[in-house]
Amino acid sequence: MRAFVIIAATILDFREMTSREKAEAMTDTKRGMRRALTSYGDEAFSLFLRKAFIKAMGYSDDALARPVIGITNTFSGYNACHRNVPELIEAVKRGVMLAGGLPVEFPTISLHESFSHPTSMYLRNLMSIDAEEMIRAQPMDAVVLIGGCDKTVPALLMGAASANTPAIMLVTGPMITGAHRGERLGACTDCRRLWAKFRAGEIDEAEITDINARLAPSAGTCMVMGTASTMACMTEALGMMLPGGAAIPAVHADRLRAAEATGARAVTLAAEGITPQRIMTPHAFENSLRMLLAIGGSTNAIVHIAAVAGRLGIQIDLEAFDRFGRETPVLVDLKPTGQHYMDDLFKAGGATAILRELKPLLNLDCVTVNGRTLGENLDSAAPPFPQDVVHSFANPLFREGGIAVLRGNLAPNCAIIKQSAATPSLLQHTGRAVVFASLEDLAERVDREDLDVTAEDILVLQNAGPKGAPGMPESGYLPIPRKLARQGVKDMVRISDARMSGTAFGSIVLHVSPESAIGGPLALVRNGDHIKLDTAGRRIDVLLDDAELDRRRRAWRAPEPRPEDNRGYRKLFLDSVEQAEHGCDFGFLKPPLDRRAPSR
Ligand code: FES
Repeated sequence: MRAFVIIAATILDFREMTSREKAEAMTDTKRGMRRALTSYGDEAFSLFLRKAFIKAMGYSDDALARPVIGITNTFSGYNACHRNVPELIEAVKRGVMLAGGLPVEFPTISLHESFSHPTSMYLRNLMSIDAEEMIRAQPMDAVVLIGGCDKTVPALLMGAASANTPAIMLVTGPMITGAHRGERLGACTDCRRLWAKFRAGEIDEAEITDINARLAPSAGTCMVMGTASTMACMTEALGMMLPGGAAIPAVHADRLRAAEATGARAVTLAAEGITPQRIMTPHAFENSLRMLLAIGGSTNAIVHIAAVAGRLGIQIDLEAFDRFGRETPVLVDLKPTGQHYMDDLFKAGGATAILRELKPLLNLDCVTVNGRTLGENLDSAAPPFPQDVVHSFANPLFREGGIAVLRGNLAPNCAIIKQSAATPSLLQHTGRAVVFASLEDLAERVDREDLDVTAEDILVLQNAGPKGAPGMPESGYLPIPRKLARQGVKDMVRISDARMSGTAFGSIVLHVSPESAIGGPLALVRNGDHIKLDTAGRRIDVLLDDAELDRRRRAWRAPEPRPEDNRGYRKLFLDSVEQAEHGCDFGFLKPPLDRRAPSR
Protein backbone atom coordinates (compact mmCIF):
# COMPACT_ATOMS: atom_id res chain seq x y z
CA MET A 1 0.00 0.00 0.00
CA ARG A 2 2.74 2.39 1.02
CA ALA A 3 4.69 1.69 -2.18
CA PHE A 4 1.73 2.84 -4.28
CA VAL A 5 1.74 6.11 -2.38
CA ILE A 6 5.41 6.58 -3.17
CA ILE A 7 4.96 5.93 -6.88
CA ALA A 8 1.99 8.23 -7.22
CA ALA A 9 3.76 11.03 -5.40
CA THR A 10 6.97 10.61 -7.38
CA ILE A 11 5.46 10.61 -10.83
CA LEU A 12 3.21 13.50 -9.88
CA ASP A 13 6.31 15.48 -8.87
CA PHE A 14 7.84 15.09 -12.32
CA ARG A 15 4.61 15.91 -14.08
CA GLU A 16 4.49 19.12 -12.07
CA MET A 17 7.68 20.32 -13.78
CA THR A 18 6.96 22.88 -16.48
CA SER A 19 7.79 22.02 -20.07
CA ARG A 20 10.37 24.82 -19.96
CA GLU A 21 12.08 23.17 -17.00
CA LYS A 22 12.04 19.83 -18.80
CA ALA A 23 13.45 21.40 -21.97
CA GLU A 24 16.18 23.15 -19.99
CA ALA A 25 17.06 19.90 -18.31
CA MET A 26 17.43 18.20 -21.67
CA THR A 27 19.41 20.88 -23.55
CA ASP A 28 21.81 22.06 -20.86
CA THR A 29 25.30 21.71 -22.30
CA LYS A 30 26.55 20.04 -19.16
CA ARG A 31 23.82 17.41 -19.03
CA GLY A 32 23.11 14.01 -20.48
CA MET A 33 25.56 12.62 -22.98
CA ARG A 34 27.43 15.96 -22.96
CA ARG A 35 28.70 15.33 -19.44
CA ALA A 36 32.17 14.06 -18.62
CA LEU A 37 33.46 14.03 -22.19
CA THR A 38 36.55 12.01 -23.03
CA SER A 39 39.54 14.32 -23.50
CA TYR A 40 40.60 14.72 -27.12
CA GLY A 41 41.16 18.49 -27.01
CA ASP A 42 38.03 19.02 -29.13
CA GLU A 43 34.75 18.76 -27.21
CA ALA A 44 32.57 18.70 -30.32
CA PHE A 45 34.58 15.77 -31.66
CA SER A 46 34.40 14.03 -28.27
CA LEU A 47 30.61 14.24 -28.36
CA PHE A 48 30.52 13.19 -32.02
CA LEU A 49 32.62 10.12 -31.26
CA ARG A 50 30.66 9.26 -28.13
CA LYS A 51 27.38 9.37 -30.01
CA ALA A 52 28.81 7.27 -32.82
CA PHE A 53 29.67 4.51 -30.36
CA ILE A 54 26.55 4.71 -28.20
CA LYS A 55 24.44 4.52 -31.36
CA ALA A 56 25.88 1.06 -31.85
CA MET A 57 23.67 0.17 -28.87
CA GLY A 58 20.66 1.09 -31.00
CA TYR A 59 19.68 4.37 -29.32
CA SER A 60 17.88 7.12 -31.27
CA ASP A 61 18.83 10.82 -31.14
CA ASP A 62 15.65 11.40 -29.12
CA ALA A 63 16.77 8.85 -26.50
CA LEU A 64 20.25 10.33 -26.38
CA ALA A 65 18.87 13.84 -25.77
CA ARG A 66 17.15 12.73 -22.54
CA PRO A 67 18.47 13.08 -19.00
CA VAL A 68 20.79 10.11 -18.47
CA ILE A 69 20.26 8.06 -15.32
CA GLY A 70 23.10 5.71 -14.44
CA ILE A 71 22.23 2.51 -12.58
CA THR A 72 24.90 0.58 -10.70
CA ASN A 73 24.70 -3.07 -11.62
CA THR A 74 25.97 -4.87 -8.55
CA PHE A 75 24.80 -8.31 -9.69
CA SER A 76 27.38 -11.04 -9.28
CA GLY A 77 27.18 -14.80 -9.54
CA TYR A 78 28.94 -14.85 -6.16
CA ASN A 79 26.40 -12.59 -4.46
CA ALA A 80 23.08 -14.23 -3.55
CA CYS A 81 22.07 -11.10 -1.63
CA HIS A 82 21.99 -9.37 -5.04
CA ARG A 83 20.26 -12.22 -6.93
CA ASN A 84 17.32 -9.92 -7.71
CA VAL A 85 19.41 -7.05 -9.08
CA PRO A 86 18.61 -7.83 -12.75
CA GLU A 87 14.84 -7.55 -12.17
CA LEU A 88 15.35 -4.45 -10.00
CA ILE A 89 17.29 -2.86 -12.86
CA GLU A 90 14.43 -3.61 -15.24
CA ALA A 91 11.99 -1.93 -12.85
CA VAL A 92 14.28 1.07 -12.32
CA LYS A 93 14.60 1.43 -16.10
CA ARG A 94 10.81 1.34 -16.41
CA GLY A 95 10.55 4.15 -13.88
CA VAL A 96 13.23 6.22 -15.59
CA MET A 97 11.54 5.89 -18.98
CA LEU A 98 8.08 6.60 -17.57
CA ALA A 99 9.56 9.86 -16.28
CA GLY A 100 11.22 10.74 -19.60
CA GLY A 101 14.83 9.79 -18.91
CA LEU A 102 17.32 7.40 -20.47
CA PRO A 103 18.47 4.62 -18.12
CA VAL A 104 22.00 3.25 -18.56
CA GLU A 105 23.26 0.49 -16.30
CA PHE A 106 26.93 0.00 -15.61
CA PRO A 107 28.83 -2.61 -13.57
CA THR A 108 30.58 -2.01 -10.30
CA ILE A 109 32.33 -4.30 -7.87
CA SER A 110 29.92 -6.52 -5.93
CA LEU A 111 30.79 -7.81 -2.45
CA HIS A 112 29.20 -10.70 -0.61
CA GLU A 113 30.20 -11.38 2.98
CA SER A 114 31.03 -15.04 2.47
CA PHE A 115 32.86 -14.57 -0.83
CA SER A 116 35.37 -11.86 0.02
CA HIS A 117 38.79 -13.03 1.13
CA PRO A 118 40.19 -12.11 3.57
CA THR A 119 37.10 -10.12 4.50
CA SER A 120 34.64 -7.84 2.73
CA MET A 121 35.71 -4.87 4.83
CA TYR A 122 39.13 -5.09 3.19
CA LEU A 123 37.41 -4.46 -0.17
CA ARG A 124 34.76 -1.88 0.84
CA ASN A 125 37.01 1.08 0.08
CA LEU A 126 37.97 -0.42 -3.28
CA MET A 127 34.28 -0.69 -4.18
CA SER A 128 33.73 2.90 -3.07
CA ILE A 129 36.57 4.10 -5.30
CA ASP A 130 35.16 2.07 -8.20
CA ALA A 131 31.69 3.58 -7.70
CA GLU A 132 33.00 7.13 -7.32
CA GLU A 133 35.22 7.01 -10.37
CA MET A 134 32.66 5.31 -12.63
CA ILE A 135 29.99 7.84 -11.62
CA ARG A 136 32.46 10.62 -12.32
CA ALA A 137 33.89 9.17 -15.53
CA GLN A 138 30.66 8.33 -17.36
CA PRO A 139 27.88 10.68 -18.46
CA MET A 140 24.97 10.60 -16.04
CA ASP A 141 22.74 13.30 -14.58
CA ALA A 142 21.78 11.17 -11.60
CA VAL A 143 22.59 7.69 -10.44
CA VAL A 144 20.51 4.93 -8.90
CA LEU A 145 22.69 3.05 -6.43
CA ILE A 146 21.61 -0.58 -6.04
CA GLY A 147 23.16 -2.11 -2.96
CA GLY A 148 22.19 -4.62 -0.35
CA CYS A 149 24.81 -6.91 1.12
CA ASP A 150 26.65 -5.42 4.08
CA LYS A 151 29.51 -3.48 2.53
CA THR A 152 27.79 -2.50 -0.70
CA VAL A 153 25.46 0.17 0.71
CA PRO A 154 28.20 2.06 2.58
CA ALA A 155 30.61 1.67 -0.35
CA LEU A 156 28.06 3.13 -2.78
CA LEU A 157 27.16 5.96 -0.39
CA MET A 158 30.85 6.76 0.10
CA GLY A 159 31.44 6.83 -3.63
CA ALA A 160 28.32 8.89 -4.31
CA ALA A 161 29.23 11.34 -1.54
CA SER A 162 32.63 11.92 -3.09
CA ALA A 163 31.33 12.12 -6.67
CA ASN A 164 28.46 14.37 -5.50
CA THR A 165 26.29 13.59 -8.50
CA PRO A 166 22.55 13.44 -7.61
CA ALA A 167 22.08 9.92 -6.27
CA ILE A 168 19.35 7.75 -4.82
CA MET A 169 19.75 4.42 -3.03
CA LEU A 170 17.72 1.30 -3.70
CA VAL A 171 18.40 -1.81 -1.64
CA THR A 172 17.82 -5.35 -2.78
CA GLY A 173 15.72 -5.97 0.34
CA PRO A 174 15.79 -8.67 3.02
CA MET A 175 15.21 -12.39 2.45
CA ILE A 176 12.06 -14.06 3.66
CA THR A 177 12.56 -16.45 6.57
CA GLY A 178 13.28 -20.17 6.35
CA ALA A 179 12.00 -22.93 8.61
CA HIS A 180 13.40 -26.04 10.26
CA ARG A 181 11.16 -28.51 12.10
CA GLY A 182 8.55 -25.86 12.72
CA GLU A 183 11.00 -23.17 13.82
CA ARG A 184 11.52 -19.96 11.81
CA LEU A 185 15.12 -19.45 10.76
CA GLY A 186 17.00 -16.36 9.70
CA ALA A 187 20.51 -15.72 8.40
CA CYS A 188 22.68 -15.28 10.08
CA THR A 189 21.66 -15.05 13.72
CA ASP A 190 20.35 -18.60 13.54
CA CYS A 191 23.42 -19.71 11.53
CA ARG A 192 25.56 -18.78 14.54
CA ARG A 193 23.13 -20.02 17.19
CA LEU A 194 22.68 -23.41 15.57
CA TRP A 195 26.37 -23.78 14.72
CA ALA A 196 27.10 -23.16 18.42
CA LYS A 197 24.64 -25.98 19.23
CA PHE A 198 26.43 -28.24 16.76
CA ARG A 199 29.80 -27.41 18.37
CA ALA A 200 28.33 -28.22 21.76
CA GLY A 201 27.10 -31.59 20.48
CA GLU A 202 23.41 -30.70 20.80
CA ILE A 203 22.83 -31.11 17.03
CA ASP A 204 24.26 -33.89 14.90
CA GLU A 205 25.89 -33.79 11.47
CA ALA A 206 22.72 -34.76 9.57
CA GLU A 207 20.62 -32.07 11.23
CA ILE A 208 23.15 -29.26 10.75
CA THR A 209 23.40 -30.24 7.06
CA ASP A 210 19.63 -30.02 6.77
CA ILE A 211 19.63 -26.63 8.50
CA ASN A 212 22.34 -25.40 6.15
CA ALA A 213 19.91 -25.63 3.22
CA ARG A 214 17.18 -23.65 5.03
CA LEU A 215 18.97 -20.62 6.46
CA ALA A 216 18.97 -18.52 3.29
CA PRO A 217 15.82 -19.48 1.38
CA SER A 218 15.42 -16.60 -1.09
CA ALA A 219 17.13 -13.74 -2.87
CA GLY A 220 17.93 -10.78 -0.65
CA THR A 221 19.95 -9.76 2.35
CA CYS A 222 20.09 -11.31 5.83
CA MET A 223 16.61 -10.96 7.28
CA VAL A 224 17.58 -10.11 10.86
CA MET A 225 18.79 -6.70 12.02
CA GLY A 226 22.28 -7.38 10.75
CA THR A 227 24.48 -4.90 8.96
CA ALA A 228 22.53 -4.97 5.70
CA SER A 229 19.18 -4.29 7.38
CA THR A 230 20.80 -1.72 9.66
CA MET A 231 22.37 0.16 6.77
CA ALA A 232 19.08 0.06 4.85
CA CYS A 233 17.16 1.60 7.78
CA MET A 234 19.91 4.15 8.42
CA THR A 235 20.01 5.13 4.75
CA GLU A 236 16.26 5.78 4.82
CA ALA A 237 16.68 7.90 7.97
CA LEU A 238 19.61 9.67 6.33
CA GLY A 239 17.29 10.69 3.52
CA MET A 240 19.07 8.92 0.65
CA MET A 241 16.27 6.41 -0.02
CA LEU A 242 12.58 6.85 -0.81
CA PRO A 243 10.33 6.53 2.27
CA GLY A 244 9.33 2.94 2.91
CA GLY A 245 12.21 1.48 0.91
CA ALA A 246 14.31 -0.16 3.63
CA ALA A 247 12.27 -3.13 4.77
CA ILE A 248 10.39 -4.42 1.71
CA PRO A 249 11.37 -8.07 1.23
CA ALA A 250 13.49 -8.79 -1.82
CA VAL A 251 10.88 -11.09 -3.36
CA HIS A 252 7.83 -8.89 -2.66
CA ALA A 253 6.17 -7.11 -5.60
CA ASP A 254 6.43 -3.85 -3.63
CA ARG A 255 10.22 -4.15 -4.01
CA LEU A 256 9.79 -3.81 -7.78
CA ARG A 257 7.36 -0.94 -7.36
CA ALA A 258 9.90 0.78 -5.10
CA ALA A 259 12.51 0.23 -7.83
CA GLU A 260 10.22 1.78 -10.44
CA ALA A 261 9.53 4.75 -8.17
CA THR A 262 13.26 5.14 -7.52
CA GLY A 263 13.99 5.27 -11.23
CA ALA A 264 11.25 7.84 -11.82
CA ARG A 265 12.44 9.95 -8.92
CA ALA A 266 16.03 9.86 -10.22
CA VAL A 267 14.92 11.76 -13.33
CA THR A 268 13.39 14.56 -11.27
CA LEU A 269 16.34 14.52 -8.91
CA ALA A 270 18.63 15.11 -11.88
CA ALA A 271 16.61 18.11 -12.99
CA GLU A 272 16.48 19.54 -9.46
CA GLY A 273 20.18 18.96 -8.93
CA ILE A 274 19.79 17.80 -5.32
CA THR A 275 23.22 16.35 -4.57
CA PRO A 276 24.28 13.91 -1.83
CA GLN A 277 26.05 16.76 -0.05
CA ARG A 278 22.74 18.63 0.29
CA ILE A 279 21.05 15.58 1.81
CA MET A 280 23.80 14.06 3.95
CA THR A 281 24.30 16.93 6.40
CA PRO A 282 25.41 16.66 10.05
CA HIS A 283 21.75 16.82 11.11
CA ALA A 284 20.86 14.03 8.69
CA PHE A 285 23.64 11.88 10.14
CA GLU A 286 22.17 12.53 13.59
CA ASN A 287 18.86 11.15 12.36
CA SER A 288 20.65 8.13 10.96
CA LEU A 289 22.48 7.52 14.25
CA ARG A 290 19.19 7.76 16.15
CA MET A 291 17.84 5.09 13.86
CA LEU A 292 20.88 2.88 14.54
CA LEU A 293 20.25 3.11 18.27
CA ALA A 294 16.50 2.58 18.05
CA ILE A 295 16.79 -0.55 15.93
CA GLY A 296 19.50 -2.10 18.13
CA GLY A 297 21.45 -2.18 14.89
CA SER A 298 24.76 -3.63 13.86
CA THR A 299 27.94 -2.31 15.43
CA ASN A 300 29.46 -2.32 11.94
CA ALA A 301 27.23 0.58 11.03
CA ILE A 302 29.24 2.89 13.29
CA VAL A 303 32.31 2.25 11.17
CA HIS A 304 30.41 2.60 7.90
CA ILE A 305 28.53 5.77 8.78
CA ALA A 306 31.80 7.35 10.00
CA ALA A 307 33.29 6.53 6.60
CA VAL A 308 30.33 7.99 4.66
CA ALA A 309 30.31 11.13 6.81
CA GLY A 310 34.08 11.42 6.49
CA ARG A 311 33.76 11.71 2.72
CA LEU A 312 31.78 14.91 3.32
CA GLY A 313 34.17 16.38 5.89
CA ILE A 314 31.91 15.35 8.78
CA GLN A 315 33.33 13.60 11.84
CA ILE A 316 31.12 11.26 13.84
CA ASP A 317 31.59 12.30 17.47
CA LEU A 318 31.43 9.04 19.44
CA GLU A 319 31.03 10.74 22.81
CA ALA A 320 28.03 12.65 21.55
CA PHE A 321 26.75 9.40 19.99
CA ASP A 322 27.02 7.73 23.39
CA ARG A 323 24.98 10.57 24.92
CA PHE A 324 22.40 9.96 22.18
CA GLY A 325 22.43 6.32 23.22
CA ARG A 326 21.42 7.18 26.77
CA GLU A 327 18.31 9.00 25.55
CA THR A 328 17.36 6.89 22.51
CA PRO A 329 15.58 3.65 23.44
CA VAL A 330 15.64 0.41 21.46
CA LEU A 331 12.21 0.21 19.86
CA VAL A 332 12.47 -2.61 17.36
CA ASP A 333 11.93 -6.21 18.44
CA LEU A 334 14.07 -7.96 15.82
CA LYS A 335 16.72 -10.64 16.03
CA PRO A 336 19.47 -10.69 17.21
CA THR A 337 18.29 -8.29 19.94
CA GLY A 338 14.65 -9.41 19.91
CA GLN A 339 12.48 -12.04 18.27
CA HIS A 340 11.10 -10.90 14.88
CA TYR A 341 12.49 -10.70 11.34
CA MET A 342 12.62 -8.04 8.63
CA ASP A 343 9.45 -9.15 6.85
CA ASP A 344 7.67 -8.61 10.18
CA LEU A 345 9.08 -5.08 10.32
CA PHE A 346 7.84 -4.52 6.77
CA LYS A 347 4.33 -5.62 7.73
CA ALA A 348 4.52 -3.42 10.83
CA GLY A 349 5.12 -0.29 8.76
CA GLY A 350 8.86 -0.43 8.06
CA ALA A 351 11.28 2.34 8.92
CA THR A 352 8.44 4.88 8.87
CA ALA A 353 6.94 3.27 11.99
CA ILE A 354 10.30 3.68 13.77
CA LEU A 355 10.86 7.25 12.60
CA ARG A 356 7.36 8.19 13.74
CA GLU A 357 8.16 7.06 17.29
CA LEU A 358 11.51 8.85 17.20
CA LYS A 359 9.98 12.06 15.87
CA PRO A 360 10.62 14.19 19.01
CA LEU A 361 14.34 13.38 18.74
CA LEU A 362 14.77 13.90 14.98
CA ASN A 363 15.83 16.84 12.84
CA LEU A 364 12.62 17.00 10.83
CA ASP A 365 13.73 19.79 8.49
CA CYS A 366 16.37 17.65 6.75
CA VAL A 367 15.79 17.46 2.99
CA THR A 368 15.45 13.92 1.69
CA VAL A 369 15.96 12.44 -1.72
CA ASN A 370 12.29 12.84 -2.69
CA GLY A 371 12.67 16.60 -2.36
CA ARG A 372 10.61 16.82 0.81
CA THR A 373 11.76 17.09 4.38
CA LEU A 374 11.79 14.16 6.75
CA GLY A 375 9.00 15.84 8.70
CA GLU A 376 6.86 16.25 5.57
CA ASN A 377 7.40 12.60 4.70
CA LEU A 378 6.30 11.50 8.16
CA ASP A 379 3.28 13.80 8.09
CA SER A 380 2.12 12.29 4.79
CA ALA A 381 2.80 8.66 5.77
CA ALA A 382 0.01 6.15 6.27
CA PRO A 383 -1.40 6.25 9.83
CA PRO A 384 -0.06 3.86 12.49
CA PHE A 385 -1.87 0.66 13.41
CA PRO A 386 -1.55 -1.86 16.25
CA GLN A 387 1.46 -4.20 15.88
CA ASP A 388 4.09 -5.69 18.18
CA VAL A 389 7.34 -5.24 16.22
CA VAL A 390 8.00 -1.51 16.69
CA HIS A 391 7.46 -0.52 20.30
CA SER A 392 6.24 2.91 21.31
CA PHE A 393 8.67 5.44 22.71
CA ALA A 394 6.87 5.17 26.04
CA ASN A 395 7.16 1.38 26.13
CA PRO A 396 10.53 0.52 24.56
CA LEU A 397 12.28 -2.81 24.32
CA PHE A 398 15.29 -1.33 26.15
CA ARG A 399 15.42 2.08 27.80
CA GLU A 400 18.86 2.86 26.35
CA GLY A 401 20.13 2.48 22.81
CA GLY A 402 21.75 -0.71 21.66
CA ILE A 403 25.37 0.44 21.46
CA ALA A 404 27.60 1.88 24.20
CA VAL A 405 30.94 3.57 23.57
CA LEU A 406 33.72 2.54 25.95
CA ARG A 407 37.07 4.09 26.80
CA GLY A 408 39.79 3.14 29.24
CA ASN A 409 43.45 2.18 29.43
CA LEU A 410 42.72 -0.73 27.10
CA ALA A 411 40.98 1.48 24.51
CA PRO A 412 42.23 5.08 24.77
CA ASN A 413 40.49 6.10 21.52
CA CYS A 414 37.37 3.95 21.77
CA ALA A 415 35.77 0.54 21.86
CA ILE A 416 32.11 -0.38 21.59
CA ILE A 417 29.76 -2.98 22.97
CA LYS A 418 26.29 -3.89 21.72
CA GLN A 419 24.71 -3.96 25.14
CA SER A 420 21.27 -4.87 23.82
CA ALA A 421 22.67 -8.17 22.51
CA ALA A 422 24.78 -8.93 25.62
CA THR A 423 24.08 -11.05 28.70
CA PRO A 424 22.99 -8.44 31.30
CA SER A 425 25.02 -10.05 34.10
CA LEU A 426 28.22 -9.77 32.03
CA LEU A 427 27.92 -6.06 31.29
CA GLN A 428 29.74 -5.41 34.59
CA HIS A 429 32.44 -8.07 34.82
CA THR A 430 36.03 -8.54 35.90
CA GLY A 431 37.86 -11.62 34.70
CA ARG A 432 41.19 -13.22 33.90
CA ALA A 433 42.47 -12.69 30.34
CA VAL A 434 42.92 -15.66 28.04
CA VAL A 435 44.87 -14.21 25.12
CA PHE A 436 45.05 -15.27 21.48
CA ALA A 437 47.77 -13.47 19.55
CA SER A 438 46.14 -13.73 16.12
CA LEU A 439 43.32 -15.35 14.17
CA GLU A 440 45.63 -18.25 13.38
CA ASP A 441 46.44 -18.71 17.06
CA LEU A 442 42.73 -18.61 17.89
CA ALA A 443 41.90 -21.26 15.28
CA GLU A 444 44.72 -23.47 16.50
CA ARG A 445 44.08 -23.37 20.27
CA VAL A 446 40.52 -22.38 21.12
CA ASP A 447 39.17 -25.92 21.07
CA ARG A 448 42.10 -27.66 22.71
CA GLU A 449 41.19 -29.67 25.78
CA ASP A 450 44.27 -28.34 27.62
CA LEU A 451 43.31 -24.67 27.11
CA ASP A 452 43.39 -23.03 30.54
CA VAL A 453 40.00 -21.30 30.50
CA THR A 454 36.85 -21.01 32.63
CA ALA A 455 33.48 -19.44 31.93
CA GLU A 456 34.41 -16.42 34.09
CA ASP A 457 37.51 -15.63 32.02
CA ILE A 458 37.67 -12.97 29.32
CA LEU A 459 38.77 -14.06 25.84
CA VAL A 460 41.12 -11.57 24.15
CA LEU A 461 41.97 -11.58 20.45
CA GLN A 462 44.88 -9.45 19.23
CA ASN A 463 45.97 -8.39 15.74
CA ALA A 464 42.55 -8.60 14.10
CA GLY A 465 42.04 -4.86 13.50
CA PRO A 466 42.10 -2.75 10.31
CA LYS A 467 45.82 -3.27 9.64
CA GLY A 468 46.34 -6.36 11.75
CA ALA A 469 44.22 -8.97 9.99
CA PRO A 470 44.15 -6.99 7.65
CA GLY A 471 40.68 -5.61 7.03
CA MET A 472 39.17 -5.82 10.52
CA PRO A 473 37.26 -9.07 9.92
CA GLU A 474 34.09 -10.09 11.76
CA SER A 475 36.04 -12.31 14.10
CA GLY A 476 35.16 -10.46 17.30
CA TYR A 477 32.51 -13.13 17.94
CA LEU A 478 35.16 -15.51 19.28
CA PRO A 479 33.79 -19.03 19.60
CA ILE A 480 33.13 -20.31 23.09
CA PRO A 481 35.92 -22.86 23.69
CA ARG A 482 34.48 -26.26 22.87
CA LYS A 483 35.07 -27.72 26.30
CA LEU A 484 33.03 -24.87 27.86
CA ALA A 485 30.35 -25.06 25.14
CA ARG A 486 29.86 -28.73 26.01
CA GLN A 487 29.26 -27.66 29.62
CA GLY A 488 26.47 -25.38 28.43
CA VAL A 489 28.34 -22.04 28.45
CA LYS A 490 26.56 -19.78 25.97
CA ASP A 491 28.28 -16.43 26.50
CA MET A 492 31.55 -14.99 27.81
CA VAL A 493 33.09 -11.51 27.70
CA ARG A 494 35.21 -11.30 24.59
CA ILE A 495 37.45 -8.38 23.55
CA SER A 496 39.19 -7.61 20.27
CA ASP A 497 40.10 -4.93 17.76
CA ALA A 498 37.99 -6.80 15.20
CA ARG A 499 34.36 -6.30 14.19
CA MET A 500 31.38 -8.58 14.70
CA SER A 501 28.61 -9.50 12.33
CA GLY A 502 25.49 -7.51 12.99
CA THR A 503 23.65 -10.80 13.15
CA ALA A 504 25.72 -12.03 16.11
CA PHE A 505 25.03 -11.65 19.81
CA GLY A 506 26.97 -11.87 23.06
CA SER A 507 28.92 -9.80 25.59
CA ILE A 508 31.49 -8.68 23.08
CA VAL A 509 33.75 -5.63 23.15
CA LEU A 510 34.79 -4.62 19.65
CA HIS A 511 36.71 -2.04 17.62
CA VAL A 512 39.34 -1.52 20.34
CA SER A 513 41.41 1.44 19.17
CA PRO A 514 44.27 1.96 18.65
CA GLU A 515 44.48 -1.60 17.39
CA SER A 516 47.10 -4.02 18.63
CA ALA A 517 48.99 -4.26 15.31
CA ILE A 518 50.10 -0.63 15.67
CA GLY A 519 50.97 -0.99 19.34
CA GLY A 520 47.63 -0.18 21.00
CA PRO A 521 47.30 -1.32 24.63
CA LEU A 522 45.41 -4.46 23.57
CA ALA A 523 48.78 -5.72 22.26
CA LEU A 524 50.20 -5.50 25.79
CA VAL A 525 47.67 -7.82 27.48
CA ARG A 526 49.00 -11.21 28.62
CA ASN A 527 47.43 -14.40 29.87
CA GLY A 528 46.41 -14.04 33.48
CA ASP A 529 46.04 -10.21 33.49
CA HIS A 530 42.73 -9.07 34.88
CA ILE A 531 40.37 -6.97 32.78
CA LYS A 532 37.43 -4.96 34.06
CA LEU A 533 34.41 -4.26 31.85
CA ASP A 534 32.23 -1.49 33.28
CA THR A 535 29.53 -0.84 30.69
CA ALA A 536 27.51 1.45 32.94
CA GLY A 537 30.63 3.57 33.54
CA ARG A 538 31.62 3.23 29.86
CA ARG A 539 35.07 1.84 30.79
CA ILE A 540 37.25 -1.04 29.65
CA ASP A 541 40.52 -1.38 31.58
CA VAL A 542 43.28 -3.87 32.10
CA LEU A 543 44.12 -3.82 35.79
CA LEU A 544 47.78 -2.93 35.40
CA ASP A 545 49.48 0.26 36.56
CA ASP A 546 50.95 2.75 34.13
CA ALA A 547 54.53 1.74 34.93
CA GLU A 548 53.87 -1.89 33.94
CA LEU A 549 52.06 -0.83 30.78
CA ASP A 550 54.99 1.45 29.88
CA ARG A 551 57.48 -1.37 30.48
CA ARG A 552 55.51 -3.69 28.20
CA ARG A 553 55.09 -0.97 25.59
CA ARG A 554 58.85 -0.48 25.36
CA ALA A 555 59.32 -4.22 24.88
CA TRP A 556 56.58 -4.52 22.22
CA ARG A 557 57.60 -5.25 18.61
CA ALA A 558 55.31 -4.77 15.61
CA PRO A 559 54.31 -7.94 13.75
CA GLU A 560 56.64 -8.81 10.88
CA PRO A 561 55.29 -7.67 7.50
CA ARG A 562 54.16 -10.49 5.23
CA PRO A 563 55.63 -10.81 1.71
CA GLU A 564 52.27 -9.94 0.14
CA ASP A 565 52.06 -6.70 2.13
CA ASN A 566 54.33 -4.80 -0.24
CA ARG A 567 52.42 -4.64 -3.51
CA GLY A 568 49.12 -3.77 -5.11
CA TYR A 569 45.88 -2.99 -3.33
CA ARG A 570 47.14 -4.63 -0.14
CA LYS A 571 49.98 -2.11 0.10
CA LEU A 572 47.59 0.75 -0.59
CA PHE A 573 45.27 -0.60 2.12
CA LEU A 574 47.97 -1.07 4.75
CA ASP A 575 49.53 2.33 4.01
CA SER A 576 46.25 4.22 4.07
CA VAL A 577 43.57 2.57 6.22
CA GLU A 578 42.49 4.54 9.27
CA GLN A 579 41.33 3.26 12.65
CA ALA A 580 37.76 2.19 13.39
CA GLU A 581 36.58 5.48 14.88
CA HIS A 582 37.44 7.17 11.57
CA GLY A 583 35.54 4.60 9.54
CA CYS A 584 38.48 2.50 8.31
CA ASP A 585 38.49 4.68 5.19
CA PHE A 586 41.63 5.67 3.34
CA GLY A 587 42.73 9.04 4.65
CA PHE A 588 43.50 10.38 1.17
CA LEU A 589 39.86 9.95 0.09
CA LYS A 590 38.56 12.42 2.67
CA PRO A 591 38.46 16.20 2.74
CA PRO A 592 39.46 17.93 6.00
CA LEU A 593 36.99 17.03 8.77
CA ASP A 594 35.47 20.42 9.59
CA ARG A 595 31.99 19.48 10.87
CA ARG A 596 30.70 17.13 13.55
CA ALA A 597 27.74 14.84 13.96
CA PRO A 598 26.04 14.57 16.36
CA SER A 599 26.53 18.30 16.79
CA ARG A 600 24.99 18.46 20.26
FE1 FES B 1 24.67 -10.44 2.40
FE2 FES B 1 24.11 -11.06 5.05
S1 FES B 1 25.48 -12.05 3.65
S2 FES B 1 23.44 -9.39 3.84
